[in-house]
Amino acid sequence: MKRLFHLALALVVAGFALQSCVNNNQAKKNDSQENGTKVLVCYFSATGTTEKAAQRIADLTGGVLHNIAPEVAYTDSDLNWRDSLSRSYVEMHNRDFRPALKGSVTDMSDYSVVFIGYPNWWNTHPTIINTFIEANDLQGKTVIPFMTSGGSNIINSENELHEAYPGIRWAKGLLMNNVSDDDIKDWLKENGLR
Ligand SMILES: Cc1cc2nc3c(=O)[nH]c(=O)nc-3n(C[C@H](O)[C@H](O)[C@H](O)COP(=O)(O)O)c2cc1C
Repeated sequence: MKRLFHLALALVVAGFALQSCVNNNQAKKNDSQENGTKVLVCYFSATGTTEKAAQRIADLTGGVLHNIAPEVAYTDSDLNWRDSLSRSYVEMHNRDFRPALKGSVTDMSDYSVVFIGYPNWWNTHPTIINTFIEANDLQGKTVIPFMTSGGSNIINSENELHEAYPGIRWAKGLLMNNVSDDDIKDWLKENGLR
């Protein structure tokens, strides 16, 4: 009987511990939703680096991840920036080119803050970022760019985005090469997100 009582007690304690764990995760998810802020973290990543950066932002903001996928994925030879006949070279040397997206328009209506991440290609954003911005309604949202690169910075890309889409409320972007979690948190704070 005593053993049965101990077993029941252990089950109750384990149940409470599990519930508290679930609540903690829920609290983290809800972090960004204070004051009605819902965060969408969109990213295009050809070789996985920007995807990891996007994941870090989603973890710190409780945001939802959205992969900006091209209709036709980029192969290694497509990404050969030394080859003037490669797909990326050809696409990037015509700034009016708009690579097609896989899937249709993303439902943005729920989100007030939208991050858009991408690799640096030829010292700016890949043209698929233009496709994505032009295919979605970003009016009234705060849009925050982030980038990974082999060393180039984000400034030229930000300038081009501001110039091409002046109707969007752009917040300060971040180059996410070698950044610590504290760097990311400082940036989020500057943008009023923490
Ligand atoms: C086609 C192409 C062009 C690139 N151009 C630049 C560049 O101008 N400056 C730079 O610092 N890095 C450049 N890179 C390096 C990428 O920005 C860097 O590796 C990035 O982190 C890759 O991100 P991803 O793995 O998410 O695709 C280029 C890479 C590719 C494939």
